[in-house]
Amino acid sequence: MLDLAGKRIVLGLTGGIACYKAAELTRGLIKAGASVQVVMTDAATHFITPVTMQALSGQPVHTDQWDARIANNMAHIDLTRTADAILIAPCSADFMATLARGGCTDLLSTMCLARPSMLPLMVAPAMNVEMWQNPATQRNVRQLKDDGIMVLGPDAGEQACGETGMGRMLEAVQLVEEMVAAFQPKSLRGKQVMITAGPTFEPIDPVRGITNLSSGKMGYALARAAREAGADVTLVSGPTALATPAGVQRINVQTAQQMFDVVMSRVTGQDVFIAVAAVADWRVVNASEQKLKKSAEGGLPALVFAANPDILATVAALPQAPYCVGFAAESEQLLKYGKAKRAAKNIPLLIGNIGHHTFGMDENELVLFDADGQIQFPHAHKQTLARQLITAISERLAPAS
Ligand code: CTP
Repeated sequence: MLDLAGKRIVLGLTGGIACYKAAELTRGLIKAGASVQVVMTDAATHFITPVTMQALSGQPVHTDQWDARIANNMAHIDLTRTADAILIAPCSADFMATLARGGCTDLLSTMCLARPSMLPLMVAPAMNVEMWQNPATQRNVRQLKDDGIMVLGPDAGEQACGETGMGRMLEAVQLVEEMVAAFQPKSLRGKQVMITAGPTFEPIDPVRGITNLSSGKMGYALARAAREAGADVTLVSGPTALATPAGVQRINVQTAQQMFDVVMSRVTGQDVFIAVAAVADWRVVNASEQKLKKSAEGGLPALVFAANPDILATVAALPQAPYCVGFAAESEQLLKYGKAKRAAKNIPLLIGNIGHHTFGMDENELVLFDADGQIQFPHAHKQTLARQLITAISERLAPAS
């Protein structure tokens, strides 16, 4: 998807082994439709060559404040005047310190200080865990945030130095997501949004169970879109193979009962609840603790079912219920069943999937049922539909909620 079509990004590289990720990041930004102008500090050129970055970005790389090729010698001004954002990735501890004190030690730092005040500046820290935890660095992080600079990450995990902890630079794909998010309208700023997604899995024995074909793609796309719109997002997810969208808090569950318990324990204070999960309507009450044997006496297993709680209906019935949104995948008569389901669950908004072959697909077509009737959202990528839905939800939220 060309989520960054027409955007001009200045990508700054500073000294750190995470420079190797900047190559993939450049590709990712360009693939999303952006143009990328690379600026490197001298230290960065020790980790990855300007030739590599020029080849990937398709533009000459700037490394020198005193570049004789630039007629007016004002690269630190000119580079940002037509830009839509600056991203420093990797951003070293030293470069953060320079930014925090407003230093102009090289082309990149001078350019950052000379940027127009409205131009977004994002930094993706990358450093050893001890460097990250050092009070001096933490002080600089606070200063950068106070100055309106967006700090993306870092992540925790294994580090190139062999140690483990906070300080890993976010992956290229996450940084592209963050860049896309920066350009989305903040229609849910400050709102708390909870989303259920994916299938549930009801065990029959320790190795078997009942599930469904939900991939989780629509729920994850909504989680990403809600977070892009400025919401604080909790994603309660059944088993899926999907990556957690950047900045989203994900809680994994397996069964419908677990999903119900997690939702009910955290729903207080939520402004919006979007139930996208394909929740199993029934669970097996006589699930076996041991694997069922084919050769067992009695032949075929006799499964006994009980109804699972209806998560959406329960949340909608709470005295201080959040704004509730449901989904419906019907195999027939969507308009009739959609309307009836909205009424039965007593929710303000229900989204119907047009066609029930949406499971696992990247694209979909939707119809919205609300108190005023129906609105159709034509065939599009699920991420595009998710952004349209988030806009529709934000428009329907009472200002005081
Ligand atoms: N839902 C839920 N908890 C359940 C069942 C469904 O929260 N135990 C939510 C789904 O996440 C979805 C909506 O209710 O947002 C409708 O789900 P669907 O399976 O289409 O409807 P059901 O209520 O289960 O009715 P039926 O299966 O008879 O169509």
